[in-house]
Amino acid sequence: MTTLAPRDSLAQPGVGQDGAPAPVCIAKGVHWVGALDPQLRRFDLILRTANGTTYNAFAVRGRDGVAVVDTVKAELTDEFLARLEQVARYDEIRVIVLNHLEPDHTGALPELMRRAPWARLVISKRAPAMLKALLKADEEVRYETVDTGDEIDLGGRRLRFLHTPFLHWPDTQCTYLVDQQVLFSGDVFGCHHCDPRLFNDRVGDFRFAFEYYYAHIMRPFKAHVLEALELIEPLQIKHIAPAHGPILRERPHHYIARYRELSGGRVEPGPAPLDSARLRTLLIFYLSAYGSTARMAEAIATGAEAVPGVRVSLYDLEGGEPEPFVDLIETADAIALGSPTINGDAVKPIWDLLSSLAVVSLRGKVGAAFGSYGWSGEAVPMIEERMRGLKLRLPVAGLRLKLIPTDAELTGCRDFGRRLARALAGTTDGQPGKAAGERVVIDVADLG
Ligand code: FEO
Repeated sequence: MTTLAPRDSLAQPGVGQDGAPAPVCIAKGVHWVGALDPQLRRFDLILRTANGTTYNAFAVRGRDGVAVVDTVKAELTDEFLARLEQVARYDEIRVIVLNHLEPDHTGALPELMRRAPWARLVISKRAPAMLKALLKADEEVRYETVDTGDEIDLGGRRLRFLHTPFLHWPDTQCTYLVDQQVLFSGDVFGCHHCDPRLFNDRVGDFRFAFEYYYAHIMRPFKAHVLEALELIEPLQIKHIAPAHGPILRERPHHYIARYRELSGGRVEPGPAPLDSARLRTLLIFYLSAYGSTARMAEAIATGAEAVPGVRVSLYDLEGGEPEPFVDLIETADAIALGSPTINGDAVKPIWDLLSSLAVVSLRGKVGAAFGSYGWSGEAVPMIEERMRGLKLRLPVAGLRLKLIPTDAELTGCRDFGRRLARALAGTTDGQPGKAAGERVVIDVADLG
């Protein structure tokens, strides 16, 4: 069984206590059995992915058998099958639905077909030629095509199909689980945002990822988006389960309305945007040369996330450009920036982000800096000085540590995150706030 790389970060419902993949129930009889790809920094060569992506696949159980909806990319086949095996035996799988044949969703298909050879492949009416090209099987591949309105009854759970071509390939379709009101939407309503908390009401801020994905993947096909929305909007929907990124269970119709807006169609009055007023938001950005600053960032996120009322988002600047982050920071309550020290300085993407912030007001927001260093460690105080110049409030002194973090130092990082979040939530019990202009940089050893 696959064991995921240990990650000192946010609660991971898709990962068991032993680090092994675990399925996640999203509705009665429906499990997420996909795969996490947190280290991916570029998708299809063109898309930046600041915290990776997910490949979402699902198992739906009816009285008469199980349907698997989509698979994952080939490299993550073991992780996918490990989750699937915990909710279904292969001889129970009657149907494999492929909403989209791009390899990030069909890489594990050959192995799944080998283990469940009796399962029917179900694809859209535009997909057969693509399926044959994809599998390149010597034997004839058995499949059936479906169109809008066709249904498969698993026994108390009906899958109904929506023909939604060119979103963003000719073959694409959506699958609606009638009885649970779940829309398995393929790439539609998806985004590249890997957060193991999985659900949109639990993950960090992914608005920019949602917009970025639409702009790069769906925007060229706006006319087809509008055609698809004519099929989707009349549905009763409790969950949108896209093939990438968070599962949209809080106000799913907000995302449908946003697609119509972005595609230039009439905008139906819908629910207001997600209300995050009850939460204070902390965004953590980092760059890491050898993984030490990344581990600090993840430990800080873990500590901060433990404070009630604070939502934490973690971004690797290696996978992003500054512009979308500026919008996020403008509406956030706090930012923490992590940088190694290289040639006596913070690294360029950190300065690029900080210089981009000149166009927004940061007065009163909370700032913090951290980073691993090998020799001199100037990056942290330099970032703090710039933050003060931007009128950020720095209630917790910067945190730097030498080279690779020890377990004790990671405990110190979690404490740093906790104190930062408490200061943000107004329940600070951390060290006294620092007067503006006072530079205090402490080593983790000082935290005790
Ligand atoms: Fe996520 Fe178009 O594949």
